Amino acid sequence: MATRPIVKYPLPLLQKKTAPVTLFDDDLVKLVSDMIETMREAPGVGLAAPQIGVSLRLAVIAGSATLPDEARENESETPPPPPLVLANPRIVAGEGAHIDEEGCLSVIDCFAKVKRYQKITVEAQDIKGLPLRFEANGFFARVIQHEVDHLDGTLFIDRLSSLKRGLYKKKLKKILAQEQEAGGEQ
Ligand code: NI
Repeated sequence: MATRPIVKYPLPLLQKKTAPVTLFDDDLVKLVSDMIETMREAPGVGLAAPQIGVSLRLAVIAGSATLPDEARENESETPPPPPLVLANPRIVAGEGAHIDEEGCLSVIDCFAKVKRYQKITVEAQDIKGLPLRFEANGFFARVIQHEVDHLDGTLFIDRLSSLKRGLYKKKLKKILAQEQEAGGEQ
């Protein structure tokens, strides 16, 4: 296992639709373990393959994020389940709406409220290619929707109003210019 650098917006690869996973081989196992380690170290609750520069329909979700909302709030009482691996995930049904704050490891210095389904039905494959079908609610459902968006080339900032997105782009431009200046002084 090794951590890999997390790529950041505005890298174009983050806004590209990914290719399906077709080979469930040792290379996939290695990629998934690197994704899990990168997610843990960040730390984050989910990570999609494009975030480490791999344009594949693959995501990992922290075990703690898969717990029901009530259990997640008392997380210290129970050991978290293992991370969830989703190859080729699809949201096949969604109901209800919930607005909550989101951030993303690939979108620096940005947190904003995003509307998502409250409850979803997901179809995917596991790391061996076996089919999965399950329902997710609340925070778990939100994380999956965020990661599936990544796999379609959509970032959470694409779901904000054009005014809010414009403000963020301006702010990011300033941050990047400052970073470049600081780098230039070394
Ligand atoms: Ni993200």
